[in-house]
Amino acid sequence: MTRLLGISGSLRAGSINTALLRAAQQGAGPDVQLEIATLHGIPVYDGDVETSSGIPAAVTALKDKVAASDGVLIATPEYNGGIPGVAKNAIDWLSRPSADAKRIFQGRPFALMGATPGGLATLGSQNAWLLILKKLRTQVWGGGWLTLSHASTLMDASGEYTDEATRKQLADFVNGFAAFAARVHSSN
Ligand code: FNR
Repeated sequence: MTRLLGISGSLRAGSINTALLRAAQQGAGPDVQLEIATLHGIPVYDGDVETSSGIPAAVTALKDKVAASDGVLIATPEYNGGIPGVAKNAIDWLSRPSADAKRIFQGRPFALMGATPGGLATLGSQNAWLLILKKLRTQVWGGGWLTLSHASTLMDASGEYTDEATRKQLADFVNGFAAFAARVHSSN
């Protein structure tokens, strides 16, 4: 069994990015388990809070989920051509304390996907993510881009992806990433 953790970079209940993770979960093969995590409850990073109180419980819980996974699949919105603050804030907390960042990130398979109601396919956001994931020494899966423009045209009224080509694309993506993560895991 390959265990993936999906993290949505949006807190919205109706998020078109969290919906990507749900569709990926449905398309995952029988030997792939995709758990979906949210960033609810993660406070704004404040170095004084870290010094006085340590790592918040919600951050520790997410760190434990990442550490237990064979790979992390990030579903990212794009805000102003880059990464939403809520997602970058979470990554910053996950990298603390710095002595523990290696355990969480180094060598761990990561993959990116994203959806937008607009036409620019989250490419700005995904490109910005690549620099951060490289800085953290993750292994970013280069098996393809999953970048959805005009996402609302691919969904039903309840906010689920119903477009067949999109669902197949998501299934191929998550299973391709899982195969990569399994290869990395078995070589360690
Ligand atoms: C956006 N949105 C947006 N979309 C895009 O394709 N490129 C962009 O640069 C931006 N910038 C942006 C900034 C801010 C502050 C907001 C609130 C929104 C639109 C965005 O893609 C849209 O709101 C998505 O629905 C957000 O993703 P979730 O929350 O549905 O997953």
